[in-house]
Amino acid sequence: MKIALACDHGGFRLKETIKAYLEELGIEYIDYGTYSEESVDYPDFAYKAAKGIVNGEADRGIFICGTGIGISIAANKVKGIRAALCYNVFSAEMSKRHNNANVLCLGGRILGEELAKAIVKVWLETPFDGGRHERRINKISEIEKLEE
Ligand code: RB5
Repeated sequence: MKIALACDHGGFRLKETIKAYLEELGIEYIDYGTYSEESVDYPDFAYKAAKGIVNGEADRGIFICGTGIGISIAANKVKGIRAALCYNVFSAEMSKRHNNANVLCLGGRILGEELAKAIVKVWLETPFDGGRHERRINKISEIEKLEE
């Protein structure tokens, strides 16, 4: 499994923490930037990393901005991306079980390091429930086609 990482200046510090955590877990990643705390625009990084996922360079993503809101909105504009903004472990678990989210979004200015790592861990480990949830996800893909 390869993780696409993306952030803006508001998410940079937490992204560095998550990188170290993924290394600890032995999980590969591609860091699509940004690479410092200099002010940037989160849609640029959300788009690069989201395209990395839909093009198959990475399997899933963890995207971080100050609140996680902007970067999740931007990521969800890319066809095939289901980005879930999670502020706690329960929502991270459900974002996999029910929504099969392929991008986890975090708020670098909101979450403490340990909570963020716990969210990442459960999100990486929880499988998709399938069944009726598969039908609902397929309907999301149909909306993408209607919007083409
Ligand atoms: C940047 O200041 C901030 O707006 C951004 O990181 C994010 O929180 C947007 O949703």
